[in-house]
Amino acid sequence: MRIGVACLLLSSSTLAFQLPFKLPWLQGSTDTQGVFEAVVESQASTQPRIAIIGAGAGGSSAAFWIAKAKGRYGLDVEVDVFDKASYIGGRSTTVYPFNDTNLKPVELGASIFVKVNKNLYRASEEFNLERIDFEGEEAEMGIWDGEKFLLTTGSGRLGQWWDTIKVLWRYGYTGPTRTQKIVDSMVDQFVQLYTRGSPRWANLTSLATTFGWSDMIAQSTSEYLDTHGVATKFTREMVEAATRVNYGQDSDQIHALEGACSLATTGATSIKGGNWQIFEQFLKRSQANVFLNTTVLSIKQKSEGKWTVKTNDGTGHYTGVILAAPFHQTNIDVPSEISEQIPEQPYVHLHVTLLSTTAATPDPAYFGLAAGSHIPSMVLTTYEGVRNGGKEPEFNSLSYHGYITKDVPGTPDQRVVKIFSKERVSDEWLDKIFPGQVGWVYRKEWDAYPKLPPTTTFPPVKLADGFYYVNAFEPFISTMETETISSRNVVDALLTESFGTGICKAVEGEEQAHEESADFVLGWDC
Ligand SMILES: Cc1cc2nc3c(=O)[nH]c(=O)nc-3n(C[C@H](O)[C@H](O)[C@H](O)COP(=O)(O)OP(=O)(O)OC[C@H]3O[C@@H](n4cnc5c(N)ncnc54)[C@H](O)[C@@H]3O)c2cc1C
Ligand SMILES: *[C@@H]1O[C@H](CO)[C@@H](O)[C@H](O)[C@H]1NC(C)=O
Ligand SMILES: *[C@@H]1O[C@H](CO)[C@@H](O)[C@H](O)[C@H]1NC(C)=O
Ligand SMILES: *[C@@H]1O[C@H](CO)[C@@H](O)[C@H](O)[C@H]1NC(C)=O
Repeated sequence: MRIGVACLLLSSSTLAFQLPFKLPWLQGSTDTQGVFEAVVESQASTQPRIAIIGAGAGGSSAAFWIAKAKGRYGLDVEVDVFDKASYIGGRSTTVYPFNDTNLKPVELGASIFVKVNKNLYRASEEFNLERIDFEGEEAEMGIWDGEKFLLTTGSGRLGQWWDTIKVLWRYGYTGPTRTQKIVDSMVDQFVQLYTRGSPRWANLTSLATTFGWSDMIAQSTSEYLDTHGVATKFTREMVEAATRVNYGQDSDQIHALEGACSLATTGATSIKGGNWQIFEQFLKRSQANVFLNTTVLSIKQKSEGKWTVKTNDGTGHYTGVILAAPFHQTNIDVPSEISEQIPEQPYVHLHVTLLSTTAATPDPAYFGLAAGSHIPSMVLTTYEGVRNGGKEPEFNSLSYHGYITKDVPGTPDQRVVKIFSKERVSDEWLDKIFPGQVGWVYRKEWDAYPKLPPTTTFPPVKLADGFYYVNAFEPFISTMETETISSRNVVDALLTESFGTGICKAVEGEEQAHEESADFVLGWDC
């Protein structure tokens, strides 16, 4: 069995080399003032143009899908991609320990994708980006309730804890087995999204209906597993450890579809040097104009089917607009008919703390254990202690992520640790966990992922004629991969609306119905 294990990996990170940024196809407003303005002035007003706001997973893949259509049937359209940040990747980005570019970078945001994430997987193959697989890695896991460890696995290969004696002893067979079945059947539906017969959707409620996921989105993970005969203890400890590390939410807060996604982690992997390289390649290969350091301020209707996009560095006119960022975080001024359609969407405000330490494990004293007691290298948490009248864990997860330096004569080995928490962790607090053994510390606050309470309604995919919203998908499932799936659906709908054909128009003379092979991926292979 394999669930509950790889899920823990979603917080893993990988270390490698990152390219410094100054590529000729990138344009920005800081050192190249007025570039966007100049492009706009010279643009032929008759050529169809599409604006994409956001250069993360969603926006970069949107540009890539448009380029696929251009390549397949010569669609004539120019694409401008805007991001207010100075880098490509959005919530997928890396930093260097000690800010030293000779060291391997660490993922600061999204770190893991899995084998059934066929767009990212395929991209890594086609773009020759090396993957680092996590299955088979050595690690130990413990579940901390704020006052005591409920469970610690022995040292074992990552991916093998599930059937350790300790886990089975505590939870029995039925909980893990029934949960596994639920996850497997969710994944079986999910992969339909890559087939030629994939549904297209105007809203996520209709997609949930198509896949038989209506109960999953309408119930919390706890409720759903309770009604499917999974022992409450298993859900509130083991499953909740996964929902907390992956989405910063407890099993009774998060809907069961995202809960199941937290567990669907077979074949966990990431890109050596940073997942953002996939998104860089999407943009590079799309030949879109990429404007970094460029904030979109407003999007207004110019005339029927024409949009005016105003940035801090010029204004352009577009036949299509794709918003690929969480709307409420963009501060973009749009007509009220549009903003009214997008319900308020709170995000989990997450503190990510990266640090280096010479300590091989956290200090047992913090966990109320005797000196020399063994502390797992991956400490996950549950809210179950609070439900039973205890105190809340001070962090969501705390995990070791390999070495910064190892076996260097005269210097102690240094390891990287990643902590996710709801509040800022102070230097004093870090000193309690790693007394006198903390070196580099890097803190980042993210609006990481949507709060995902059970629901039946989602924002619309289409906001107006020619204006589409990729991040409508996020309150359904929030991952890098699903943003690339959402952008495919959006691009397909926009191109169909504007040009009468989606991403996969049959090209003259092309064989119509060659059998879909096992590695067929919709959009890539059409
Ligand atoms: C700590 C953390 C861990 C995570 N772990 C995982 C994981 O292991 N696996 C996984 O798949 N997912 C994970 N996620 C979730 C994942 O990061 C997101 O689902 C995904 O990256 C979202 O991509 P996006 O392109 O939709 O949005 P974003 O990446 O947020 O991109 C939106 C972009 O829009 C830009 N923007 C915003 N407003 C404007 C404006 N007005 N003008 C111009 N540009 C603007 C932003 O600068 C940003 O770059 C994690 C997230 C966090 C924070
Ligand atoms: C964006 O701005 C930063 C400084 O804020 C600068 O270092 C970087 O070169 C700029 N990027 C581009 C593409 O202009
Ligand atoms: C990291 O190093 C770069 C380049 O040397 C420098 O511009 C930047 O300010 C440094 N950042 C921090 C946080 O020290
Ligand atoms: C969602 O989409 C379905 C069909 O795609 C449609 O019938 C339904 O009205 C839509 N619901 C909303 C809230 O837009």
